[in-house]
Amino acid sequence: MKRGRILGLAAAISLAAGGTIVWAQADDDGTFAGALWEEIAGLRLVGDDALGAVPYAREGQAHGETLVTLQSTVTINGVTGAVLVKRSYGEGATRDGIIAHPNDNLENVTVMFQREAGYDPANGDWFWAMYAPDGMVGAMDGMTMAGRVGMCSGCHAAAPGGDYIFLHDGLPAR
Ligand code: HEC
Repeated sequence: MKRGRILGLAAAISLAAGGTIVWAQADDDGTFAGALWEEIAGLRLVGDDALGAVPYAREGQAHGETLVTLQSTVTINGVTGAVLVKRSYGEGATRDGIIAHPNDNLENVTVMFQREAGYDPANGDWFWAMYAPDGMVGAMDGMTMAGRVGMCSGCHAAAPGGDYIFLHDGLPAR
């Protein structure tokens, strides 16, 4: 069931992209993505103990209309880098509800983690992943949505500052 929901959400993202995004490889079998989820759950950015945070509204973009975005630094398999975590909320989500119960109406979690130089130099060395609220890795067309996901990097390449981050230009471009 969860996987089916993820499929639908993934389609929603590519539709928002206007069909112009070409899938490259999505090469993680879920192992690295699983380790990444454990780290961000440990920091309480996601998971059963997720911290409440003040959401903001967006209209007409890929990730939905009610969002929480959090940033930290994590180490996965000896690689330390910036991690950005986006929680996308669905219908029924309210500001106070999200602050009090961060997993209610949570539709999906998308994460970008900047790996070591050389991981994916053409795309800023970012590792991309999309999860169901319980941490299950998303899949689409038989591919996990984790690793060098062309759909994610293809759109994020347009972010100002050359760092693949839309919300700020706080990291140097690679
Ligand atoms: C069609 C374009 C598009 C696609 C495809 C897309 N994103 Fe985004 N993403 C955005 C936009 C626009 C923002 C800024 C949203 C906001 O205002 O919070 C964003 C924000 C984010 C953020 C917060 C950091 C930032 O850049 O501001 C993360 C994390 C993220 N996206 C992950 C992903 C992942 C993982 C995928 C692939 C599964 C993905 N995105 C696919 C457009 C896209």
